[in-house]
Amino acid sequence: MTERAATQDADALVLFGATGDLAKRKLFPALYQMERRGELNVPIIGVARSEWTDDDFRNRAAEAIDAVVDEPDPDVSKALCERLDLIQGDYADTATWESLRETLDRHDSKMAVFYMAIPPEAFDDVATALESVKLNERGRIVVEKPFGRDLESARELNRILHSIFPEDKIFRIDHYLGKESVEDLLVFRFSNMLIEPVWNRHYVRSVQITMSETIGVEGRGAFYEGVGAIRDVFQNHLMQVVAFLAMEPPVGHQTAQLRDESAKVFNSMKPLDPANMVRGQYVGYRNEDGVAPDSAVETFAAARLEIDSWRWAGVPWYVRVGKGLAATATEAVVELHQPPRLLFDEAGGPAPGRNQIRFRLGSHDGVTFALQAKTPGPNLDSQEVDVDVDFVAALGERQEAYERLLGDAIAGSLRRFAREDNVERTWEVLQPALDSPSPIHPYFKGAWGPDAADTLLRNGDHWYLPD
Ligand code: BG6
Repeated sequence: MTERAATQDADALVLFGATGDLAKRKLFPALYQMERRGELNVPIIGVARSEWTDDDFRNRAAEAIDAVVDEPDPDVSKALCERLDLIQGDYADTATWESLRETLDRHDSKMAVFYMAIPPEAFDDVATALESVKLNERGRIVVEKPFGRDLESARELNRILHSIFPEDKIFRIDHYLGKESVEDLLVFRFSNMLIEPVWNRHYVRSVQITMSETIGVEGRGAFYEGVGAIRDVFQNHLMQVVAFLAMEPPVGHQTAQLRDESAKVFNSMKPLDPANMVRGQYVGYRNEDGVAPDSAVETFAAARLEIDSWRWAGVPWYVRVGKGLAATATEAVVELHQPPRLLFDEAGGPAPGRNQIRFRLGSHDGVTFALQAKTPGPNLDSQEVDVDVDFVAALGERQEAYERLLGDAIAGSLRRFAREDNVERTWEVLQPALDSPSPIHPYFKGAWGPDAADTLLRNGDHWYLPD
């Protein structure tokens, strides 16, 4: 029996935080695309504290779709809006939960997806309330990141969720796991024979991952104050990218086999010495709404990680993330060692430059090989040439991460969600840096973060500017 056959498709989608920012920016546009492709066949029940009617809710969904989707088809928007119901009420009021149960009964639901698009501090209350009306027995729960704030709170959240839902009903979202470009790292590595022989410390000099955004906190100041860059994206999105770049090939297609390989990478990482992390904050962050005037929350974090495995020992993994930076891009650069000098080059030029393999993981995803080729002219020396593939041009449009993840949650497939031990282990790796935060260095918006990030670099390495 396949894993899919062993799970039951959900028959309802319940959105907590249905009137919030995530629903607006990501979930409704994703649901629209699923509706357009004929992949959505469940009612969608929003639960929210806002004093809204069903019509307000439908209008809000339609507006969200109009804001994100190019020329949306009105018939598709209408069909999606017809699926929407809103339960308005306080989470602390038992009537809200009774009303949710009645609504699910009315839809004859036997297996619902409960999607927590709400602030992390409300996760356990909502899960406990679901249990109070026994809805945990007929549903699975989707929990947005960040999962906890540190190792201890992640363990506590896991403990609470496990007292209510079994692990195979807990879907921990990290939308980077739903990106085609991130999954491609694994496929690309193991389906191209020319890659794997060099993918180790003998050939790789360093690996560098940059996630940069030009935007600031954009009205999410109050949320961001509670997290900062390390908790918002480093502990989750970037650590998952590291795992996909570093892991051994999974030995089978079962979800557990993929997650086991991520676990081995996280388990072989050394806990991060706070001296190997640099934190920054863009000038002006403290004036954002919801931000304390003396805030020490980082909007930039860079670190040098070590993976103490046979494959990677001694290779520096430079990882940096920031808001208010010079460009919006997510990129991983694998740099190989420099070849020896070309002794046959009469002109006695320098040794050829180092090859790099650069994966673009954000918009315009694709890969560039920086190779060396003969410089035109009489001498036998080399210069860099780029061999570049744009995946959309070569392979066509792919689905957005949230479309895939909502589909997976409805189908009951856990493969693109994070497992308990992996989440806890990534916190454990970062915990020393959370316990003893390094100083905050200011940087101006439009720069590449504070200069102090350069102190993490070894052996003459430099930070790559994303393409
Ligand atoms: C989210 C973070 O998880 O990822 C945001 O909370 C960030 O702060 C966003 O902007 C970036 O996602 P993407 O897919 O645009 O790289």
